[in-house]
Amino acid sequence: MLELCRLVEIPDGGARGFAVEGPDLAQRLVVARRGSRIFGYVNLCPHAFSRLDSEIGQFFEYDDSTHLFCDSHAALFRVEDGVCIEGPCEGQALTPAAIELVGDRVCLDQPNVALVDEISKILSDLR
Ligand code: FES
Repeated sequence: MLELCRLVEIPDGGARGFAVEGPDLAQRLVVARRGSRIFGYVNLCPHAFSRLDSEIGQFFEYDDSTHLFCDSHAALFRVEDGVCIEGPCEGQALTPAAIELVGDRVCLDQPNVALVDEISKILSDLR
């Protein structure tokens, strides 16, 4: 079980991205928070398999946090079940991630993975 962050580190009504890596897995995740509930998905759009947040960390359209948003082709996904309700992949869904709330800790139930600082990694790859 890998702790991603504390619940309070995801703004209520907001979402936060994470990247994890291990010997058998490299994955980006998005975790949305609604009060004391969390909803976690693989950060990969079912339309063309790009990340939702081409601007890293921007998971919503403008200031509307009602639906997760893929800004590649403007798909909207329900936070509660990841189903696309508007856009080119309407009816398809984001892949659920094994995210659990353990006390006040947001955790990924996946062995042998570690958190990756995605921005530092991108910057170091550019050097
Ligand atoms: S890649 Fe997400 S809507 Fe096209």
